[in-house]
Amino acid sequence: MARIPVSVIEEIKERTPIEDVVARYVTLKRAGSNLTANCPFHSERTPSFVVFPATQSFYCFGCGAGGDVVSFLMRIENLEYVDALRQLAERAGVSIPDSGERGDGVETVPRKRLFEMNRDAARYYRDQLFDESRGEATRRYLTERGLSQTVIKRFGLGFAPDDFGMSRHMKELGYTEKELVAGFLMKVSERSGKPYDLFRGRVMFPIIDVSGRVIAFGGRVMGDGEPKYLNSSDTPVFKKSKNLFALNYAKNNCADEMILCEGYMDVISLHGAGVENAVATLGTALTPEQARIMTKYTKRVIICYDSDAPGQRAASRAIDLLSEVGLDVKVLKLKGAKDPDEFIKKYGVDAFRDALAGSSGKFSHTLGTISSKYDENDPDARVKMIREVCEYIASIPGATEREIYINQASAALGVSVESIKNDVLLIINKNRKKRRRELPGEMLRNATGVGDRVNRDKLTHLRAASCEETVLGMLVGYPEYIADVASGRIKLSEDDFSTEFGRRAFSTICGIYGESGAFDIGALSEHMSPDEVSRLVKLSVDRSQLDNGRSIFEANVKALTDEKSRELAKSEDAFDAIRRMRETKNRGNT
Ligand code: GTP
Ligand code: MN
Repeated sequence: MARIPVSVIEEIKERTPIEDVVARYVTLKRAGSNLTANCPFHSERTPSFVVFPATQSFYCFGCGAGGDVVSFLMRIENLEYVDALRQLAERAGVSIPDSGERGDGVETVPRKRLFEMNRDAARYYRDQLFDESRGEATRRYLTERGLSQTVIKRFGLGFAPDDFGMSRHMKELGYTEKELVAGFLMKVSERSGKPYDLFRGRVMFPIIDVSGRVIAFGGRVMGDGEPKYLNSSDTPVFKKSKNLFALNYAKNNCADEMILCEGYMDVISLHGAGVENAVATLGTALTPEQARIMTKYTKRVIICYDSDAPGQRAASRAIDLLSEVGLDVKVLKLKGAKDPDEFIKKYGVDAFRDALAGSSGKFSHTLGTISSKYDENDPDARVKMIREVCEYIASIPGATEREIYINQASAALGVSVESIKNDVLLIINKNRKKRRRELPGEMLRNATGVGDRVNRDKLTHLRAASCEETVLGMLVGYPEYIADVASGRIKLSEDDFSTEFGRRAFSTICGIYGESGAFDIGALSEHMSPDEVSRLVKLSVDRSQLDNGRSIFEANVKALTDEKSRELAKSEDAFDAIRRMRETKNRGNT
C-alpha cells in the first residue's frame, strides 16, 4: 500500500464535501444544521442516518456505522482505505504521487505489478494446458467434464504442472520471489524458509475482476486428492469477500436476474450451456459486501446451491443477506442432481431453464426448511411446525409481506388463513410486550458494557471506561484538545487509560496528529476496524452537544490521571454498578 501524504489527503477532503458524496447514494433531508436519510447500511423506514456537515462526518443511530467521507465510501463501495482515497482524488482532480514505498519502509509490490504478474502467470498456465504432451491429461479431464474448447478459452483455464516451472518462467520474465510471494503464487515454506510454487498438479481457474484483470487463482486437483480446491488468499489486488467469480461476464447479462452458485465448475458449465448470468462466491460463504455488489448489476438473485443439507443451509443464510440489501430473492433447489453442473450434464440446459422458471420465492424455501424438521404424520409435530412458521412470519416487519406469506402458508399447510393470521397477531403482540419488558435491561447492558464487542474490557473498568469515552469522543470531535494534549498543556498519556481499546484509540489519535500536525477521522480507518472507527465517531457525536466542553474535558482527564479515582474505578466491579443502577431505577419507580 502506497502511503498518501497527509497534505494530499487534506486537499482531497477539502474538495469533497461529505454531503455531496452521500447524496449520490441516498436522499438527504435537512434537519437543522444536519442532514438525515434512511441508512444505506441497514434496512429501515425511519431515518436514523445523520450527516454532520460541520464536522464532515456521518453516524447512523440505528446500526452504528459512522465515519468521514473516506470511511463512507469504503463502506458503501467496499473499498480499501487507499482505494477510496484514490477514487475521491480522481473526482476532485487531485493527483496522488505513486510510490511503491510504505511509510514504514517495508517494500510492497505496486498493484499494477501484481496485475501484470497474475496475467503472465495465467498465460503460463494456459500455455501448459495447450502444450501438446504436458497438458494432455488435463485437456482430457476437462473434456470428460463436458467443457468445450470455447468455454475453456473463454474462462482462461490452465494447468499447473507438478513442478516448479511457474516460478522458473516468472523469474525469467523478471519477477522476484518476493513479488511472487506477495501475489500468492509462491509461499514461504515453514520448514525450510524457502519459497515454493503454490499451485502444482492442478487445473487452474483464473479469477477475473469486473475490469477483466486476473486478480487470483483457484486450482483443482484432477480426480481425488486433498485439498480439492486451493484458492489464493487475499492480496493487495484480491479480496475474496468482495469479488464474485464470472461477474466480468455475468454483469452484461443479468439486468433482470442473476444466478448464484457455489462452485467455479457450476458457473463454467452454465455459461458453457448459454446461461451467462451465473456467478459464484470464491470458496467461502456469501458476504454482505458481495450482496451489495450484486445490487449494482441486478434486481433479482436466484440462489442455486448444492442440493445437500449444507448447501441448503448456506442458501438460507444467503437469502437473509440478499434480502437485507433489497434484492428480490428466489431459490432453485435442483432435484436429481447434486449441483447445477451435474444437473445440466444429466438433463440438459432446457430442463435447467424450466427449473429456473419454476424456482420458488424465499418464503417457500423457509417453509421447506421448517417443515423438513418435523414429522408430517405426527399431529403434535405438525402443531409445533405451524407454530414455528407463524413465529417466522411474525418476525417480518412489513404488513404486506406478512399477509402474502400468511396466504401462502395457509395454502401450503392446509390451515385456514384466519387461524394463521390470529396466531401471527398473538405472537406479534407477545413479542412487543416482551420487548417493552426487556428494554430497561438492554439499557442497563449498554451502560454496564456487558457484551460490548468493541471495548471488550469495559465491564471490568466501568467508571474509567465512561471517562475514557468522554475524553476520546471529545478528542475526535474537537481536535484542539488533541493539540492541548500534544503540547503538554493538558497532561494525559496512554498509561492513564485502563481499557485496551482506550489505550489503542488514544495512541492512534495522537499518532495521526503527531505525524501530520492535524487530525483526520478518516485516517483512523487505516489503523482501526470499521466498528472501532464507528464507535469513536459515535462517542464524538454523543459528546458534541455538551456545553462547557473544556471544563468537562478537563474534569474527565483529571479523573483518568488522578490516582485515587483510578483506584476507585478499579475497585468498582460490574456487580457494584448493576446494583447501583438497580437502586437508582427502583428509586425512580417509587
Ligand atoms: P467439482 O467437484 O469440481 O464439481 O467442484 P464444485 O464446483 O462442485 O465444488 P464444491 O461444490 O465441492 O465446492 C464449491 C466451491 O467451494 C468450490 O468451487 C471452491 O471454491 C470451494 N471449495 C471446494 N473444496 C474446497 C477445498 O478443499 N478447499 C477450499 N479452500 N475451497 C474449496
Ligand atoms: Mn460439482
